[in-house]
Amino acid sequence: MPPTLRVVLCGSVDDGKSTLLGRLLHDTRQVFADELERVAEDSRRHGTRGDATDLALLLDGLQDEREQGITIDVAYRSVETPRRRFMVADAPGHEQYTRNLASGASTADIAVVLVDARKGILPQTARHTRIAAMFGVRHIVHAVNKMDLAGWDRGTFESIVRACRALAEEIGVEEAVSIPLSALTGDNLTRPATEAPWYTGPTLLDHLETTEIERPAARRPFRMPVQYVNRPNPDFRGYCGRIAAGAVTRGDRVLISPAGTAAEVESIVVWQGTRESATRGDSITLTVKPDVDVARGDVIAAAADPPEVADQFQARIVWLGDNPLAVGRPYRMKLHAREVGATVTRIRHRVDVSDGGRLAAARLELNDLGVVNLATDRSVPFAPFDRSRELGGFILIDRATNATVGAGTITYALMRAANLKWQEFDIDAEVRARLKRQRARCLWLTGLSASGKSTVANLLERRLVAEGRHTYLLDGDNVRHGLNRDLGFTEADRVENIRRVAEVARLMVDAGLIVIVSFISPFQSERDFARSLFEPGDFMEIFVDASVEECARRDPKGLYAKAMTGEIRNFTGVDSPYERPERPDMRLDTGKLSPDECVELVMRRLD
Ligand code: ADX
Repeated sequence: MPPTLRVVLCGSVDDGKSTLLGRLLHDTRQVFADELERVAEDSRRHGTRGDATDLALLLDGLQDEREQGITIDVAYRSVETPRRRFMVADAPGHEQYTRNLASGASTADIAVVLVDARKGILPQTARHTRIAAMFGVRHIVHAVNKMDLAGWDRGTFESIVRACRALAEEIGVEEAVSIPLSALTGDNLTRPATEAPWYTGPTLLDHLETTEIERPAARRPFRMPVQYVNRPNPDFRGYCGRIAAGAVTRGDRVLISPAGTAAEVESIVVWQGTRESATRGDSITLTVKPDVDVARGDVIAAAADPPEVADQFQARIVWLGDNPLAVGRPYRMKLHAREVGATVTRIRHRVDVSDGGRLAAARLELNDLGVVNLATDRSVPFAPFDRSRELGGFILIDRATNATVGAGTITYALMRAANLKWQEFDIDAEVRARLKRQRARCLWLTGLSASGKSTVANLLERRLVAEGRHTYLLDGDNVRHGLNRDLGFTEADRVENIRRVAEVARLMVDAGLIVIVSFISPFQSERDFARSLFEPGDFMEIFVDASVEECARRDPKGLYAKAMTGEIRNFTGVDSPYERPERPDMRLDTGKLSPDECVELVMRRLD
């Protein structure tokens, strides 16, 4: 038997995906008698097919689980016929399930994209086809469903075929076929349709059973991302992972990436015992000698041909977050077994899903596809996705909510980064601070407009200067007059506003100053990013806390009044969010404390 075929099934809601999968399971006898009985019973009660059995209900057990958002992201069903085994990933069609489609596609050999014969290629059909191709699916089948409702009309089918072919050609997949069928009746699914004598191609099942899939050659150089380090006792230290490419034999010379340390494979351990060698797809534990430093997320690779290492990339991305992708916002990135901080430094363009055109874009919204530049906070071993799905695919995670907000594929590393290096100088932050007889730090005041940040900042700086300290005060209003003159108050602009001021504060702390930052800085992600730029203890997040009502009552600049009448928009606390600090180093309640008392508290913490 040929190797198991991994299929991802996708399409818009109502295109008939569940019916198709249910019918496929039924007609290939994957369904147990008791399951069928339950479905027949359910059909009578709430099926949509009158007295006939509604095979879509076969999948409802899975649907329930999915709707509760537990256990599975993608539902897999295994199908076996005398000719082949399949794993079918059912990627739900609702917009918010694009994530499941991306994850199902990232391991699939072939995508079956449902098209409703009466509607033709919808934007959603094109989007799904593109996402499948983007995540490495080289074979596409457009299953033109509901042909019975379209009267098995040849012209209808042929015009859809032309559109599908144009789409597939533009995306550049290896093979694209269209099959006219009816999931409801089973025509052209597992048996030829009698109503369509004009169609001479294969049924869907035929096609799936006979499609030849090229597996990447085992002769590629060896790569294994380390999923975890196994240290059951002081005498054993093994590196566990799944071989992403190539093969490994005991005694092979390997390189640990990104560090570049050389070692030799001492043993290959699997659960049954030890082995002489292992190959792509095997899950193994390696021990190496000498005893070098290897961590989770490193890649153990053939010494003669190690993977590339870089920290700036061009990538394709599909956005999965409810909040748009913001340029400059720090996200967490998971690339094979490695997790690093990453920001999108530029959106090169958004992709028009219907014709592949490049659209200028300042942000990417839910389900948008785009091409971006990406910077990671550390160098990572990788491979272009075209060469390795395992080493070139990644997801982006929101730091505050832990939700997966993006999925992407690396196109190539940007050389610019490789040509820049960090220059080491003799005079460092410590020397500069010592000369000023102080410990340099960043005191970051966050809070609503009119919460009292500027008042506290002003008094605090006076106190510090009176004690002979060297300081600088960065204030939102003032910095927006110069450095950040080009920024407004959209979410994206605020992200960039804070990114810049955090970098400036870092330079000033490096210069040996005590820097007071007074910015609304409404988002936790950016405040966390600011913190990440400093040594632990050199950054204090100080929450200047006053309720919106209290701030609106104070309203020294008359801005709340204007915001409430709609004269200014995106005003923090009115029609733009403020995320209260989750774990501030200090909270100053300016409703209860006087400015002097606030400063007193801060000074005591500094001592
Ligand atoms: S932040 O959100 O990007 O951190 P920042 O602290 O730089 O804001 O600027 C806030 C100041 O800009 C406020 O103190 C206020 O004087 C002024 N401002 C003008 N429009 C707005 C607005 N829509 N939202 C908040 N502040 C505004």
